[in-house]
Amino acid sequence: MCGIVGYVGEKQAAPILLEGLAKLEYRGYDSAGIAVCNNGKISMTKAKGRLAVLSEKTAGGKSVLGNVGIGHTRWATHGEPSDMNSHPHLSQSGKFAVVHNGIIENYLELRAYLEGKGFKFLSETDTEVIAHLIEYYYKGDILETIIKLIGKLKGSYALGILCDECPDSFIAVRKDSPLIVGLGEGENFIASDVPAILSRTRKVYYLNDNEIVVVKKDDVKIYDLDKEEIHKEVSEVKWDIAAAEKGGYEHFMIKEIMEQPEAVRKTVAPRIQNGRVVFEELSLSEEYIKNINKIYVVACGSAYHVGVVGKYIFEKLTRIPVEVAIASEFRYCQPILDDKTLVIVISQSGETADTIAAMREVQKQGVKALAIVNVVGSSIAREADEVIYTWAGPEIAVATTKAYSTQLNIMCLAAMYFADILGRISEDEYKSMLEGLLALPEKIEKILENKDKIQHCASLYYNSKSVFFIGRSLDYAVALEGSLKLKEISYIHSEAYAAGELKHGTIALIEPGTLVVALCTVEELFEKMLSNIKEVKARGAVVLAIAIEGHTEIEKEADHVIYIPKNDKNILPSELVVPLQMFSYYVSSLKGLDIDKPRNLAKSVTVE
Ligand code: M6R
Repeated sequence: MCGIVGYVGEKQAAPILLEGLAKLEYRGYDSAGIAVCNNGKISMTKAKGRLAVLSEKTAGGKSVLGNVGIGHTRWATHGEPSDMNSHPHLSQSGKFAVVHNGIIENYLELRAYLEGKGFKFLSETDTEVIAHLIEYYYKGDILETIIKLIGKLKGSYALGILCDECPDSFIAVRKDSPLIVGLGEGENFIASDVPAILSRTRKVYYLNDNEIVVVKKDDVKIYDLDKEEIHKEVSEVKWDIAAAEKGGYEHFMIKEIMEQPEAVRKTVAPRIQNGRVVFEELSLSEEYIKNINKIYVVACGSAYHVGVVGKYIFEKLTRIPVEVAIASEFRYCQPILDDKTLVIVISQSGETADTIAAMREVQKQGVKALAIVNVVGSSIAREADEVIYTWAGPEIAVATTKAYSTQLNIMCLAAMYFADILGRISEDEYKSMLEGLLALPEKIEKILENKDKIQHCASLYYNSKSVFFIGRSLDYAVALEGSLKLKEISYIHSEAYAAGELKHGTIALIEPGTLVVALCTVEELFEKMLSNIKEVKARGAVVLAIAIEGHTEIEKEADHVIYIPKNDKNILPSELVVPLQMFSYYVSSLKGLDIDKPRNLAKSVTVE
């Protein structure tokens, strides 16, 4: 949610800022801007729309001179997308320029205060108060000023700040919003996320809350709120640069769908040793696990859907009750937690504000948080008590695919691991799940090969007004994800429904021609799904069914059938989701939409 970059070095800053912003556009893309300091004067260029507009306005950055600057790509919170509301924002005299990711909760109060002091506001944003407040407090010591500023701000922020009196440096600070410092040779950077700087350096500092950084071309100093210098360890980013590029694919989303076999392999293989599930990264004792009597899974969006699948599998295998909670609700529902509760938080980015807040809340009550995270060094990864990484690699498309799949793998492995310690899983079931997980990459490859059939189905229904995804048990859990995938990238209204629940009201919405995607991979409920298909067919629905190879009897009921390979029943959700991702992708592609950057969305939701 909003991307920030900063550069200082020997080179012209603007083209480098634009290059970095291009890598962060997935975080927000309704407007963009840069500010560069040249000969002690700050110049600023901003443009509503995609980054390409800004790039054109500045001839790819070449028309903006100067070696130090900050840039921003915006996901609007306060004020519509417009040139004026775009970042950076200048202070009254133009002495300071500020880029911001996050939300200043007390901005109205601060704005009124500053207006009382004669400051004139040009935008509707919360960020502009920061620029003016810095100018108001500045008495020649920028560090002192930022410390004072932090004392006044309520909310979340990652800030990049340029000052015309410090033409060889910029300042950055964060609280509850991600920010890293990139360390180059004779040049240094800040960025909201690693891809922005990956082509220039792999050495980074991960900043903590309230750490203030003064970035110069050959020096980076970090201070705490007492102006004491902090010495941090440099971290090395292990990502392959190619992994954050499209590599010949038209969109990141299809590239990431295609990468799933490899992502699954990388996530599963190291956790299976000598026929047993091993989590070398966990320090939970057997005694602790045996003592757990309640598990909460807390997450947002697709990660929440992983939790719903996980609940079925965890409860079946471990017999520990599992509650799945939407992170933004969890904090306010007074969850009953004690030392026998384990909270599992799931997040691709590791920066989702609601998930972080929920995690902190449980930790405050002395309860352990185990995080399943994709981004190394992210806030959740650093703050959780226990971390299990999904090794999906960088995920750039806003719609998650490979991260969802690898999160599912971890849930399966963790359920097996816990159940084994509890002595509640039979050797046969354990073996079947292990074999299923190990065979999964090949099975997904087989589904990916069925591209033409899935694309054909998409071509028949891409003009649908409304689509229903139905299923029972694990199929219902995956239907939630199939439905979200479709709506977020194709803008088609869709709903996931427990197939048995449909006739309790929602079936009223089925009319001739309505597409129903019926997920029929839970073998013991297959017959019941056939009945549910008949019910919607009787009301004129067209049915696209997804079933396991060999269940050809479904062809008598459904209009179209896509088959997935047979596998252990607990592993099937990892296969089932793949044709649903592909279907959504092709629907969106046929509609000519911006698949990687769907309207109104951002990859990483860093505001509550
Ligand atoms: O980074 P996180 O996994 O915490 O993100 C959670 C959701 O914002 C995310 O899954 C979102 O729902 C995706 N756009 C779904 O494709």
